[in-house]
Amino acid sequence: MSAKPHLLIVEDDPVARRNLQHVLEKDGEYQVVAASGGQEALELLSVRSFELVLTDLRMEKVDGMEVLAEVKQNHPDTEVIMLTAFASVDSAIEAMKRGAFHYIAKPYKIGEVRAQVANALDKARLKKEIKQLKQEASARDGVGSIVGKHPRIQQLIRTVAQIAPTDCNVLIMGETGTGKELFARALHQASYRAERRFVAFNCAAFAEQLLVSELFGHEKGSFTGATATKPGLFEAADGGTVFLDEIGDMPMAMQVKLLRVIQEKVVTRVGGTEPIPVDVRIVAATNRDLKQLVEQNHFRSDLFYRLNVVCLELPPLREHPDDIPLLANHFLHKHAGKQDKDISDIPREIMEALAVHRFPGNVRELENLIERGVTLGGDSLNLADLPEEVRKAAASGGNGGAQRPPTLEERERDYIKQILNQTGGNKTRSAEILGIDRVSLWRKIKKFGLED
Ligand SMILES: Nc1ncnc2c1ncn2[C@@H]1O[C@H](COP(=O)(O)OP(=O)(O)OP(=O)(O)O)[C@@H](O)[C@H]1O
Ligand SMILES: [Mg+2]
Repeated sequence: MSAKPHLLIVEDDPVARRNLQHVLEKDGEYQVVAASGGQEALELLSVRSFELVLTDLRMEKVDGMEVLAEVKQNHPDTEVIMLTAFASVDSAIEAMKRGAFHYIAKPYKIGEVRAQVANALDKARLKKEIKQLKQEASARDGVGSIVGKHPRIQQLIRTVAQIAPTDCNVLIMGETGTGKELFARALHQASYRAERRFVAFNCAAFAEQLLVSELFGHEKGSFTGATATKPGLFEAADGGTVFLDEIGDMPMAMQVKLLRVIQEKVVTRVGGTEPIPVDVRIVAATNRDLKQLVEQNHFRSDLFYRLNVVCLELPPLREHPDDIPLLANHFLHKHAGKQDKDISDIPREIMEALAVHRFPGNVRELENLIERGVTLGGDSLNLADLPEEVRKAAASGGNGGAQRPPTLEERERDYIKQILNQTGGNKTRSAEILGIDRVSLWRKIKKFGLED
């Protein structure tokens, strides 16, 4: 059974108030709280939530319009019904324009009150359901846009879903083009912040002075050129997520300010003195080794630990090559759709070429390559439209051997795979043969995605 809806009655006439409360409480369907005036109503609204507020229009000091304004501003899920004497029907209509659900003229008929209350609660419930459905859908969309069946990608997707509802800061590490921004957006989409803004900011793209004023804003006249007061990105993203890309390039002086945002949840504009409260989740990304930057004193260790509450390490594409066909098809549909072309499959020789390419630009490189193939191809993808280095690798027999000897890591992966096959997946035996302990083997198995 769901909880009873909470109603707030705001009425300064004690007799009318008690009558109304009695009518609504009689059947035990609602939890009713009564306030003797607008001021008390605002106080109640600030500490608890109601599905519906019934408020008298004309009251001393704080009137019904002010109660309505407060509800619409800070409690968008709450409906409002105005109670009004015949003389003030005009202002009741004005109230409806400002978002009241309905008005009831005094003296009211009990039946009408009941009916309007039921209608307003239906609407509130419906709104809530739609909101929930939207949130669920966007959570699915967010994580749903990530493609990959490799265990490491699957694990990352699970982690995103787990941490999305929390407010913890997240650090995303990965080479260029591995999907750092995609994961950051997915995290935002899957969080309760999804309806607020996701603001991406590249810390490497600005000179220090500009960086400060972009992020924290500035007051009018605080420096030459500051002709107007401008709120910074943190303020713009209030309630949402700030994605700080290339965090490793953030100057030391800025790092202190960022730490303050995290610890105290306030920003101070350049040239300003007032701290302004901000509520943001920070997702930082880097393709550099932040730990090493900390050791070299280029990055504050306290900030590092604050950002690194959860770390998502995105593998380079060469470490999950099994996902190449899946990703390639995903991008084919995406770009064929965008360009309105009827290309639905990838010829085998192209798949083979992709399978042996190293992809130093990772997933982005693969996407660009498919997009280009779609643009240049008529009604099919052609090997001839692939970049030369990819075609060459394919021409050398499909294993890329003639073009490029395998790296140490690839050799290591293959050898571990071979031994695991030999021992039928027995980890103790495999570790013995490989001359390493079981924990190291287990780590490598995870790293190379050899769990299966
Ligand atoms: N697992 C994935 N599934 C689907 N699309 C992906 C995946 N990984 C990356 N992409 C796509 O590849 C492109 C590059 O990803 P993104 O911009 O997130 O990478 P990045 O790590 O931020 O790169 P950079 O370091 O260069 O900024 C985007 O179009 C993104 O949608
Ligand atoms: Mg990026």
